Amino acid sequence: MAFEPVLTQNVGKPGILTVAGYRDAGGYAALRKALGMTPAEVIEEVKKSGLRGRGGAGFPAGVKWGFVPADTDQPKYLVCNADESEPGTFKDRLLMEKDPHQLLEGCAICCWAVGANTTYIYIRGEYTEAADILEEAIRDAYREGILGDDVLGSGFKLDIQVHRGAGAYICGEETGLLESLEGRRGQPRVKPPFPAIVGAFGKPTVINNVETLCNVPHILTRGADWFRGIGTDERNTGPKLYCISGHVERPGTYEVPIGVTLDELIDLAGGMHKGRALKAFIPGGASAAILPASQSHLNMDFDSLAKAGSMLGSAAVVVMDETTCLVRATWRLAKFFSHESCGQCTPCREGTNWMQMTLKRIEDGHGSEADAELILRMSRNMSGTALCALADAAVGPVQSLVTNFREEVDEHIRRGGCPLPPVPFFENGASH
Ligand SMILES: Cc1cc2nc3c(=O)[nH]c(=O)nc-3n(C[C@H](O)[C@H](O)[C@H](O)COP(=O)(O)O)c2cc1C
Ligand code: SF4
Repeated sequence: MAFEPVLTQNVGKPGILTVAGYRDAGGYAALRKALGMTPAEVIEEVKKSGLRGRGGAGFPAGVKWGFVPADTDQPKYLVCNADESEPGTFKDRLLMEKDPHQLLEGCAICCWAVGANTTYIYIRGEYTEAADILEEAIRDAYREGILGDDVLGSGFKLDIQVHRGAGAYICGEETGLLESLEGRRGQPRVKPPFPAIVGAFGKPTVINNVETLCNVPHILTRGADWFRGIGTDERNTGPKLYCISGHVERPGTYEVPIGVTLDELIDLAGGMHKGRALKAFIPGGASAAILPASQSHLNMDFDSLAKAGSMLGSAAVVVMDETTCLVRATWRLAKFFSHESCGQCTPCREGTNWMQMTLKRIEDGHGSEADAELILRMSRNMSGTALCALADAAVGPVQSLVTNFREEVDEHIRRGGCPLPPVPFFENGASH
């Protein structure tokens, strides 16, 4: 697949972590250009590009920016969501560690567009290296007049600060994140009001994912039409980072036009591990419904995957071959959600635990014929009944196990245990 990388074009370039190196690679030209435009023109360009949020929900970035009131004297904020806690996702880490100024430039353009003078980059606690690199890049940017009281001599004032989280999945949810940023327990807020109106410290706030913001400088320099020319159609545009893990020869982060097929991604990742057959895949992180191998021809974009009953989410693609027990794999995911539920809502707190217990029972050979239906009933009771999308996310893979792979669940129950051999995933041979 011939595609010139955009977001990862600077990865590995000498000196790219410094302002000087980034400038040599053409960096900060987009910010200069944006500062010569009106904020409304910048928002319009981002809207026209069709850029959709890369954090999970796929909301159009320009439309979100447009929700922030322009005619207010309240302070406004940009919060960059660098929590990256969706299992299987590691693209934002690469962007922050390998090209931090691309992100700072995207943040600065967004702030100019919405009239914010402060950005908080909320980064997951485990990303110590990325946080250190960003903090050094920010110090350099202040020294070079990119940040501070007079951005590039324009009179625009901008401060950027890195805020380290403590490693909770729920702090990736935008309002849980805001609570944590403000120094409280990371428990999601009731919406509405949405953060664009009442966000950080009660003020209008844009929250965007790292990858979303990294696209922005390129939209400014190369234009919305160029951006729209990449991808499946006008609703699914631009370059995209896919994180491929599981049974492929070369797991990693790959940049391609949004909407390539799983078959193409597996080829890029060196093919299936040991040439085994594909059994199933998760297209968009732990929250996405698991799809069977027969769907590997689908375009991996927002709308095609939604139509197939799954989602692009954070584009964390988990490839599972014929040796995988899907009951066990789904139980691992269910256990994760049960552990990470913040516990505010009964359907989520209780439902996630019941789900993981039911799956464990089936895997261990104690399942009953009523269990598959029980899982579907729990899924219905949890969907749309809780405060944030974590409960729906927890339903995604579990429900799909029963709807897409019912035969495998039934076989576990009939045989009184797992038909597949245990797969050790710790070096000492322990399986879980
Ligand atoms: C449980 C949960 C966890 C989330 N974790 C992340 C995350 O780690 N990173 C992220 O960017 N968005 C995450 N999101 C999505 C955010 O709430 C929000 O939609 C996103 O940051 C908006 O940015 P975008 O429009 O640029 O995608 C999560 C959502 C939920 C419900
Ligand atoms: S749905 Fe779950 S994670 Fe979200 S607020 Fe309710 S209990 Fe917390």
